[in-house]
Amino acid sequence: MNAGIVNVGIIGFGTVGSGTAKILIENAVLIRRRTGADVRLKRIADLDVTRDRGIKLAPGVLVPDANAVLNDPEIGVVVELMGGIHPALEFIKSALKNGKHVVTANKQLLAEKGAEIFALAREKNRVVAFEAAVAGGIPIIKVLRESLSCNNILSIHGIINGTSNYILTKMTREGMSFQDALKEAQRLGYAEANPAFDIEGVDTAHKLTLLASLAFGIPLSFDRVYKEGITRITAEDILYASELGYKIKLLAVTKVVDGGIELRVHPTMIPEDFLIARVDGVLNAVMVTGDYVGETMYYGRGAGDMPTGSAVVSDIIDIATGRQTAGSCGIAAPDGEKFAIRDMKDVVSMYYFRFSAIDKPGVLSRISGVLGSHNISISAVIQKERREGEAVPVVVLTHKAREEDVVEAVGEIDKLNVVSENTRFIRVEGKE
Ligand code: NDP
Ligand code: HSE
Repeated sequence: MNAGIVNVGIIGFGTVGSGTAKILIENAVLIRRRTGADVRLKRIADLDVTRDRGIKLAPGVLVPDANAVLNDPEIGVVVELMGGIHPALEFIKSALKNGKHVVTANKQLLAEKGAEIFALAREKNRVVAFEAAVAGGIPIIKVLRESLSCNNILSIHGIINGTSNYILTKMTREGMSFQDALKEAQRLGYAEANPAFDIEGVDTAHKLTLLASLAFGIPLSFDRVYKEGITRITAEDILYASELGYKIKLLAVTKVVDGGIELRVHPTMIPEDFLIARVDGVLNAVMVTGDYVGETMYYGRGAGDMPTGSAVVSDIIDIATGRQTAGSCGIAAPDGEKFAIRDMKDVVSMYYFRFSAIDKPGVLSRISGVLGSHNISISAVIQKERREGEAVPVVVLTHKAREEDVVEAVGEIDKLNVVSENTRFIRVEGKE
């Protein structure tokens, strides 16, 4: 596409749609001067054409029917910002078939249906750009696709769900309840239409799927990601973590181990002096390690109208200026290289356990006996409360252990008559 006039049509005038429209309108001159791209917002389709979004549009720009965007021959770039699978999938396919480039922030759609979308884009020689789909305003897709492209990527660790990080931060810093913090994140426009995606680790897994495909050249493998969210993290765990010098974060991890690739999302205790442990609120951070560049880290707002709008508009500009071309998306075709995704049971990590154990002599040795019989070695124990004959929390930190051994040991321990509730465990990052 020449950097002449590029007409843009947006589908979905919600949080991200509004941010995108605002930037396209308010910074049109800046964009033209800096990049040469004359990007014009020609149309926006949304089911609701009456709600005031605080953005002044010329008459006729806002319409109720997406077909007015998809079938307009003057529109060169269709921006899908409605979310969900259907009818977003059909709209994107229709845009590509009509010869339009596509920009989307819809990580769910790309992670779950990306194979057919990218195949169609290749066939139609069109771009599907998705910078906004991962980590909001952080240009992490560009980093993996372009800046680090001469490196073998060894690992990615990321805090890539703003809502979960916001909730954990509010619980840690202000003692706010989980539900109140979630409501606040929803009010601020951070959460997904279905907030279970945020708090159950699903949104993070969608994003990790995209990152892993870009980093390792593997097909999109959402179904293979281990997913565990933050819903079972309690104020008590946060307090113990803090006393032990850790923060709890919802971490996305993908790395090469013994020739296989780990794909996992779960709450993680991170030493509080690690840079990534200090990433709070809606902020996200992604740490990428490459074989030649070493460790790198990218930080910024991971959700919200304007940071995400900034990422969407950067894609539009890249298409308008020809910086992103068909076939340069970096997502592997399904028949790409052979790869092996490692099973969660083989993951090796340190662990935090919180047992609910009856306070009487010999109990700790029964628990540690089971741990020992599963090759799990203890590095620290805390029992603060003394209530003889009653259940009290006993916290144990371990050296490195295998997930399969941990799951088996916990299963055995929870059957002991001196343990009154199911044991909670959290994986721990850091040096032994
Ligand atoms: P919103 O719910 O705020 O906006 C979606 C908009 O799309 C709504 O206004 C909705 O209208 C409209 N819509 C739904 N169906 C149609 C349709 N058939 N035709 C036209 N318009 C339609 O969502 P967000 O802006 O928060 O999210 C949009 C996308 O961006 C999602 O894929 C999300 O995952 C992603 N994203 C969101 C971020 C954020 O911070 N919010 C950050 C990064 C990515 P109505 O309300 O009337 O149903
Ligand atoms: N719901 C998502 C989050 C939006 O909270 O991170 C950004 O992708």
